[in-house]
Amino acid sequence: MADGEQHGKLADADGEPTKCHVEGNPAQCSSRLVYSTDDKGKEILVLDTANGSMPYMGSNTVVMMEWEKEYMQALVQALRVETSSNVLEIGWGCGYSANAIQAHKPQQHVIIECSDDVLQRAVPWAARQSGARMVQGFWQDVLASQDKLSNVKFDRVFFDDFPLPAADGAASSAAAAPDSALTESTPARSRWCDFVEACLPHMAEGGIITGYMARPVDLEVAGVDVQISTCAVHVPDNCPYFPYDQACVALITVRPAAQVHAVARKKRKLHNLVQQSLGLLDE
Ligand SMILES: C[S@@+](CC[C@H](N)C(=O)[O-])C[C@H]1O[C@@H](n2cnc3c(N)ncnc32)[C@H](O)[C@@H]1O
Repeated sequence: MADGEQHGKLADADGEPTKCHVEGNPAQCSSRLVYSTDDKGKEILVLDTANGSMPYMGSNTVVMMEWEKEYMQALVQALRVETSSNVLEIGWGCGYSANAIQAHKPQQHVIIECSDDVLQRAVPWAARQSGARMVQGFWQDVLASQDKLSNVKFDRVFFDDFPLPAADGAASSAAAAPDSALTESTPARSRWCDFVEACLPHMAEGGIITGYMARPVDLEVAGVDVQISTCAVHVPDNCPYFPYDQACVALITVRPAAQVHAVARKKRKLHNLVQQSLGLLDE
């Protein structure tokens, strides 16, 4: 995707008639996300938290900066999207990852996005892609309900949300601290664990999940294999949220059901052996 002009096009296209429609509850997200430029003239997406109550954020928190485009592209490359892929994406943001995914022309590309402000750009964008569909709402709600994803089994998932103040208490875990804010002294359960668990019922065996991960997350989720490597990122000095020169590239692969059952059987057998040797179980 080209830099500034591509986003100019997205903004210009807002008035275009849209071929796709948004599913979900249009009044779900009350926090304001504003597209702007930073002091270097680069695109940024800012959360106006002036009326919100997020203790670890100041007002006008930066959600996304243009330097992340390269990182998004590296993540999508690692995800290995193919023309036969059914892709689920969380959070359209500036569309960097969405554009990188579309470059591979996947069969389906379903994007869950909760912000009205973002949807103003994302809906006309999706109408111009083939196989792209916006679903409005918090992933926490959409993934929990059976109807909005039309029983599609996804084999590629891209996760990049941002904790937003929820208007009505929906998306309760969206109020958890962002991974970038986690330190050893704040060992809160990462949203990543919640997300992977919520996503698993919608995934095909062998499916892969990746997404924004600042530091390695301890992903204690049954039924997946986790591989985390890093890639170099070029973070400008005006970035307020990313103090590192490396970011994680996590690949979370859904184990085939047979393998999951085999591991469960082995665990049960081992458990029984231990119980037997302790004399707690009849032979
Ligand atoms: C960091 S941006 C995503 C950036 C995107 N990957 C890109 O390349 O431009 C986060 C996006 O997730 C959306 N979002 C935040 N929390 C969400 C949630 N719980 N469910 C769905 N979308 C969410 C925000 O509105 C925002 O558009």
